[in-house]
This record gives sequence, C-alpha cells and structure tokens, in this order.
Amino acid sequence: MDPQLERLPAEVHKRRTFAIISHPDAGKTTLTEKLLLYGGAIHLAGSVKARKAARHATSDWMELEKQRGISITSSVMQFDYAGKKINILDTPGHQDFSEDTYRTLLAADSAVMLIDTAKGVEAQTIKLFKVCRQRGIPIFTFVNKLDRYGKPPLDLMDEIERVLGIRSTPMNWPIGMGKEFRGVYDRHAKVLHLFEAVEHGAEEAKTTSIPGELDDPKIVAALGETALAKLKEELELLDIAGDTFDVERIKKGELSPMYFGSAMNNFGVQPFLESFMTLAPPPLARATASGTVEPESPKFSGFIFKIQANMDPAHRDRIAFMRICSGRFTGGMDARHVRMEREIRLAKPQQFMAQERKAVDEAFAGDVVGLFDPGMFRIGDTLCVGEPFEFTGFPRFLPELFARVEIKDALKRKQLKKGLEQLTEEGAIQLFKRPGLGDVEPIVGAVGQLQFEVLSYRLEHEYSVKANLVRLPFTVARWPKGEAFKALDYEFGDTSMVVLDRDELPVVLFRNEFSLRYAQDRAKNVEFLETAPRATAKA
Ligand code: G4P
Repeated sequence: MDPQLERLPAEVHKRRTFAIISHPDAGKTTLTEKLLLYGGAIHLAGSVKARKAARHATSDWMELEKQRGISITSSVMQFDYAGKKINILDTPGHQDFSEDTYRTLLAADSAVMLIDTAKGVEAQTIKLFKVCRQRGIPIFTFVNKLDRYGKPPLDLMDEIERVLGIRSTPMNWPIGMGKEFRGVYDRHAKVLHLFEAVEHGAEEAKTTSIPGELDDPKIVAALGETALAKLKEELELLDIAGDTFDVERIKKGELSPMYFGSAMNNFGVQPFLESFMTLAPPPLARATASGTVEPESPKFSGFIFKIQANMDPAHRDRIAFMRICSGRFTGGMDARHVRMEREIRLAKPQQFMAQERKAVDEAFAGDVVGLFDPGMFRIGDTLCVGEPFEFTGFPRFLPELFARVEIKDALKRKQLKKGLEQLTEEGAIQLFKRPGLGDVEPIVGAVGQLQFEVLSYRLEHEYSVKANLVRLPFTVARWPKGEAFKALDYEFGDTSMVVLDRDELPVVLFRNEFSLRYAQDRAKNVEFLETAPRATAKA
C-alpha cells in the first residue's frame, strides 16, 4: 500500500470542519477571531479593539463588506489546535444574501449556532438552522454576550426548543448576567470559571478556574451563599427537567450541547473549544447519486461549493473552493471533472487564512482548498479519481426578483457580458436572456435585493461597467417541460415573459402565482418545473 495512504485514517480523524451560523451582530466575527487566536493563526490582528478602528474583520475580503460592515463573502480559515486541523467556514450573515451561505453549509460537518443572549433566536439563525437540521449534522449552541443583560438561560433553552424544535443540553451554566455576571460552572468537568469584568474595549477579562463540586469550600468562598444557592437550584432543575447528555443524539443533530460565554471578553471561548473538539465529528460520509462515499476511502473526491472571482484585485483571479470528501489530495494531481467528462489537472491549490494564502502540497478529506479556476467550474461540480460519480444535495435557488440590465455605453457590452457570466458562475446571481436578443439587455434573477446591490457594485468596481438595473414585475420562475411548449407563445400579456437560462433552456417568468396558475390552465400538456428539467447540464 502507498505509505502516504497509510496516514489517511489518522489524518482524516484530525479534521474538524464547521460553520458558525448566526444572525448579524450576534458576535460571529468576534468569536471567529478568538478561536483563531487559540490556534495562533492571528496574533492581535482583528481583535475587536483593532476592528473598531479599522471597521472590518480579518475574514472580510471585499471593499463592499468593509463599507457595509457585513460579511458577504464566505471565507474559510484553517488552523491547528490540540493536534487537530480545524477548518472554519465563514458564512455571510446578511439575511438577503443567503444562497452563498446555504451552499457553504453543505461543506460543513457540524455547525456552531451563536445566539445573542438578549435577542435569542433571530430570523437568520432560523433559516440557517433549518439547512443544518435537514442535513442532520451536529449543532452546538454558544450563547454570547453574557456580560450584558439578556433573557434568563432557562427561557433561552425553551425558546430554542419552541422556535427551532431542538432540545439542548447545557454543558456549562451561567452565574448571573450583565453587571452581575460571575462566570460559568462546567457541569461535566465540575469546574467554576470566574469572570472578572473589565471596561468595554479594555484588555480581555481575567478568568480564574476553580475545580470542585458545588459544596467545595473554594467554590462556596468564590461565589458566596446567595449566588451559589441560585446556581444549585437551577442546576437541580436542569438535572430533573433537562435532557441528559447523550453523544448519540448530539451526533444526529437531535440534541444541541449548549455553552455560555462572552466572545468579546474572551470568556468561555477556550472551554467551549476544548469541549467542541471532543464532540464535533470528523469528516462525515457524503451522499452521491450511487451510494455514499466514506472519507477514508483511498480514492480522492471532492465538490465545488463556492466560486469567487477577483478575490485579490491585484491578481484578477478566480478561485473555486473545493471541499475534499474522500482520500488524499496533492497539488497538481489529475482528477475527473465529472460534469465535463474529462480529466483535469488541479492546479495551483491554495489554503486560506483571511487575506493570506499559501500553496497546498497535500490535503485530506475534510479540508477545503481553493483551486485556480480558468472558468471550468460550477457550484456543485464533482471531482474524483476512478469511476465517475456525482455528489448530490445541492439546492438550487429559485430567483424571486428580476431586473433587466441596461448600460448607456454600448462599447461596454463585452465587459458586461464577461462580468455577468463570471458572477453567474460564482453563483452571485442567475443570468437569463431574451430569445433572439442575444446578449442585448440581459436579465438577472436574485433571491434578495442585496444581491442586486452587490451586482451593481461589483460590475462597476471589478469590470468598469456602470449598469442600470431595471426591476421587472415578476416573482416566479418556472422551467416548462413538454412538447406543447414549443408550439405556444407563452407571453400572456404582461403577466409573464419567456427567457432562456444559461443552458439555453426556456424559463417562464410569471408576475405571481396567479399568473402561473392561469398559464397552467391554458396549457395542460406543459409542466412548469421549479428546476431545470435535466439535473446536470453539460458545460
Ligand atoms: P457579527 O460578525 O455576528 O455580525 O458580530 P460581530 O462580531 O461584529 O459583533 C457585533 C457586535 O457585538 C460588536 O459590537 C461586538 O463588539 C459586539 N460583541 C461581540 N461579542 C460580544 C460580547 O461577548 N459582549 C458584548 N457586550 N458585545 C459583544 P459593535 O459595537 O458593533 O462593534 P465594535 O464597535 O465593538 O467593534
């Protein structure tokens, strides 16, 4: 056996690949930075204090993000901690910009759900949670900002169950909150972590850890009778009414281990990381159209979950992010591009640490590498060695907003075309054209308004095209199937419009569900599908 492959099981077992899901402002950037600090991946860069001055985080790439202070671009950060290789997939938090986020979640083996103690379960958290739930991956809960006044922890547990339908099992329990926040008691390791508050923006809080049962004189002395009595009472309640710690249920995503802390103060982050490392799963098996692929299978395979153009304005390049699902990857290796039905060389692979990149010589199942993309990749593409197969489960998003792209300067048409095509391949927007009109007046579709704003901004800054997006009155897109369609003129007044998708397949845009039903009544032989009739279009 290849001696390199003998290392495979051990290497795969070291990997932990996860995403942090949260509503904007819950503290994801802050938590990510603190986790990176433990991995020695960043020194002081991006500490909240520095961030305040610079108004952007280490994981932000695009100027637009800096301006808006939101993370639109998903990035991936790798670091080592306690003998493990950790990949954090950063997901954009803005509610309008979720397509990208959903796809990123497909590359994760577990998720950390970050909740602001005062706000509880928020809209974006619910959406992202649902995707994780569908995949059945373990979900960990970190309740943040305990240094502020928030909802009582028992109410939060109840809210999580009511809104998200998942039970939680607190791994540690907070003592007080806001100004009275004293720390957390680790129910499993039996350690009291005491929090010493400092002024906002000052140095990190000091943590003293005292091991011992609750009756231990050191713990009694540290907390005082009143705080201790309340803690005991709440823990007893948890012991009776709460769910017991059950690794199997955690693995299946049925029970969420819950932690309390304050990311900004770096309080509770390390105990969380330690516990997470023992509970988070190594790379999981992945579904394909013909069975599952085990990560330890010696044959390399992976899929593209994100494409990002112009990451570095100085290089004008395009990177396809690949999650490795099985085997060992080596830089410059050959693999089968299943959709294109040919062998390709996986050239110039890179790994990322925010703005830094480094060349990758080898990587294993669980890792994410960036591949140089001369325009051959699409989201969902499978790459493998040996018998070809395809990974399944990539959601396709039905656009609900449409706009015609107009430009004043006809000489910019070529640049516009290039920009739109590249941004479509990235999955940033969906591109349509009018039959017979070629590239004139293309139509773009999006799931959220912010996608249009990002599109205008990027067309202008990356392709030097000032475009005007004229909103069209359609909200529903359907792919018609059936011989009858060809014979019919599908434009019923101004309630619908026929366009072609990027594979030249006809798509009907309807004003609303009513106009869809009207068309359906008129054309009984035509099926209006929510996705393109063939699953994998040839490039
Ligand atoms: P996000 O990526 O989820 O959007 O959140 P981010 O980390 O940017 O944090 C949002 C705000 O919450 C920031 O404040 C951050 O300092 C604050 N924050 C994060 N963790 C904690 C915590 O444990 N306690 C408290 N009290 N605040 C926390 P900001 O005012 O928007 O930014 P800044 O001026 O502090 O940089």
